[in-house]
Amino acid sequence: MSKLQADLFSQQDNQELLKQAADFAYSYTKNLPKMRSFPNQQSLSLLKELNIPLPEASEDPAKILGQLNHIGAQNTVPYSVGRYFGFVNGGALPIGLAAKWMADVWDQNAGLYVMSPIAAQTESVCQRWLTELFSLPHGSVAGLVGGTSVATLCGLAAARYRQLSKLNWDLTERGLFGAPSLRIIVGTQTHGTVIKMLNLLGFGRQQLEWVECDKQGRMKVDQLPELDQSCILILQAGNVCSGAFDNFSQLIPQANEAGCWVHVDGAFGLWASASKQFDSLTQGVELANSWSVDGHKTLNTPYDCGIILCSDQDALTHALHQQGSYIQASDERDNMNFTPDMSRRARGIELWACMRYLGRKGIAQLVELLHQRAVYIASQLAKNGFKVVNDVVFNQVIIQCENDEITQATLKALQRSGELWCVGAKWQERSIIRISICSWATTVDDIDCSVATFIKAHRCALSI
Ligand SMILES: Cc1ncc(COP(=O)(O)O)c(C=O)c1O
Repeated sequence: MSKLQADLFSQQDNQELLKQAADFAYSYTKNLPKMRSFPNQQSLSLLKELNIPLPEASEDPAKILGQLNHIGAQNTVPYSVGRYFGFVNGGALPIGLAAKWMADVWDQNAGLYVMSPIAAQTESVCQRWLTELFSLPHGSVAGLVGGTSVATLCGLAAARYRQLSKLNWDLTERGLFGAPSLRIIVGTQTHGTVIKMLNLLGFGRQQLEWVECDKQGRMKVDQLPELDQSCILILQAGNVCSGAFDNFSQLIPQANEAGCWVHVDGAFGLWASASKQFDSLTQGVELANSWSVDGHKTLNTPYDCGIILCSDQDALTHALHQQGSYIQASDERDNMNFTPDMSRRARGIELWACMRYLGRKGIAQLVELLHQRAVYIASQLAKNGFKVVNDVVFNQVIIQCENDEITQATLKALQRSGELWCVGAKWQERSIIRISICSWATTVDDIDCSVATFIKAHRCALSI
């Protein structure tokens, strides 16, 4: 036995590394509520210590883990806390984190049933639960990927396959060159990842048919062009800034009638379907053909968990088809048929644990809680002189100050404070501060403290 192999067996046998990692993890989660919302300069300056020449020989693993913990933990950004409002980054439910941790130790390749029966079964059950929860057509299928970006890629690949097949073109056999043209219809508020995925699939910006949106970011129904079976219409459940939902009950039936494929980017907003409170927003969303959604946003699974849902199994599996004589398919679920990747981690394990823990009621309660907190922070900020730009229909709030300069300076002061985290954006040509309530951990007290931080930051911006 070589020395390397002997060392590795000894590390596995004595379990010191795992015990050490567990201790580090316990103190990290304990410290989480007290963490800054972004590392300070002193912490950031430590990162350069990781940038060493590739070592010639192996080194003490306990020392490596210790260094990673020392530098790494203080250079993370905490999401499972009450005052993180950046992007649409969700917190993580404790059961999700624990299940993922266990699954990390199992270290499963989720590609095939014969590689991991537990990965196959958890994804299979989640597929049924999600289909039922969102009231999707019977027989809809799900694949688990890194995020909504890749889920959208999958949905649009299925759409491209199916629409071309309606035009008598077999994409998998004949490829895209020389294929009949497809028309892609998107709103002007479509998320950037959708455009990126369209690019990857061979559709350039100039080829897209852009439909105007209203002030909340919803596609204007009366601007929808004439549709036919060469069309793919892309809608959204939850605009990344305003949280607005497209008018599914009016748009999708028109598309269905014309034989047009509808994909819904529901990264965080599709979860609204889990609560009756949001029926007016989600009505008709189930009539689409494919949906992309994240576990790691509204549902608060740990990172990463993107989900593609598709009512046309044949289109999705043809679009993502792979062959190889060594691939041992089974009569059970083979996860790789539903995603672009073959090897990947077993995300279904923590998704199953989170959904099982919350149940239907808990998921609805979580979604409603995020909405309540968003409504509360909007009302408190409005009372204190900030302009709330959007109708707070879900968990997103858009704030403006007197002018763009003051909005931007307020945002900088907020980020410098270390007390909370928000990001900015442009909304109808104006600077905004985005507040995304996406963690189970946000309490009323967190909102009150955050409003105080907003007031301080605004004063600081006015004094510049
Ligand atoms: C509406 C929308 N679509 C797509 C995405 C991209 O999702 P992901 O980062 O999980 O790929 C986001 C991210 O916030 C989003 O809000």
